Amino acid sequence: MRFATAAVLSALVSAVSAHFHLQYPSPRGPFNMQNELTFCDAYGQVTTNRTVFPLSNGYYLLTSEHPLWTLGVIISTVPDPDNFANFTDSQGNDQMAVNYFETSGEGAFCAPIDIGAANIAGVQDGSNVTIQFIFDGGDGELYQCADLTLSANMTSIPSDVSCTNATSNAGVTYFSSGVAPPTITATGTSSSATSTSTSSAADAKSVVGVSGILLSVLGGMLALA
Ligand SMILES: *[C@@H]1O[C@H](CO)[C@@H](O)[C@H](O)[C@H]1NC(C)=O
Ligand SMILES: *[C@@H]1O[C@H](CO)[C@@H](O)[C@H](O)[C@H]1NC(C)=O
Ligand SMILES: *[C@@H]1O[C@H](CO)[C@@H](O)[C@H](O)[C@H]1NC(C)=O
Ligand SMILES: *[C@@H]1O[C@H](CO)[C@@H](O)[C@H](O)[C@H]1NC(C)=O
Ligand SMILES: *[C@@H]1O[C@H](CO)[C@@H](O)[C@H](O)[C@H]1NC(C)=O
Repeated sequence: MRFATAAVLSALVSAVSAHFHLQYPSPRGPFNMQNELTFCDAYGQVTTNRTVFPLSNGYYLLTSEHPLWTLGVIISTVPDPDNFANFTDSQGNDQMAVNYFETSGEGAFCAPIDIGAANIAGVQDGSNVTIQFIFDGGDGELYQCADLTLSANMTSIPSDVSCTNATSNAGVTYFSSGVAPPTITATGTSSSATSTSTSSAADAKSVVGVSGILLSVLGGMLALA
């Protein structure tokens, strides 16, 4: 019984730190879990060590710590994008490099991204762009950014990047709304509270969610005892 409780608690603790990590292209700076709820994981300034990235037929690699999640990738052609408005077109709509979709599975996820085919004004061979990954596993939107120089003569993923999926996901389901970020409701272990020191509404909700799960798990164990 004590062992079971410890196992349940450790499962909850790992759920509490659930996030996503962009692996390729490399993000602007080292992953910072606390900051991932904010623009570019709080790396507000453009970097100069841009990744040379395929204009067409590229792949991105991330690891998910959530079982069910949505993702969209927005793109900016501004040389030094430091806010969300810099990722919008002249109508104020997000410029999508990958439309929002939902999929499942924890661990590595490697999927195609064709920036050249996205019809973004000003995107061509040699363009400096920034892409921002917007990930939602049910505990609010998380953000990581990568600064790129697009290259038409680069067509494959570097050999040191292991482009694999950890799970055989059931594919991706795109949202018909196109540019609107979807919201998904926290379920089971996908709840995540990064910290009790932040005061955002999203975090407050997650803390309640995790406590709720903890209470219902403990309640279930008491009922069994
Ligand atoms: C650029 O440099 C920063 C700081 O050293 C590093 O964290 C980041 O991974 C580098 N980006 C690329 C694409 O190598
Ligand atoms: C792209 O960014 C690199 C690195 O910051 C810079 O050296 C280069 O001049 C930029 N190229 C263009 C076309 O702006
Ligand atoms: C980036 O966004 C800021 C704030 O909205 C705006 O003032 C600036 O003009 C934008 N940069 C470009 C190049 O559009
Ligand atoms: C490939 O494209 C990049 C960016 O446009 C350029 O800097 C580089 O010289 C090109 N390399 C070759 C082999 O053409
Ligand atoms: C991973 O799964 C996604 C979604 O099903 C798929 O598009 C992608 O091609 C897969 N990646 C690999 C390396 O098979």
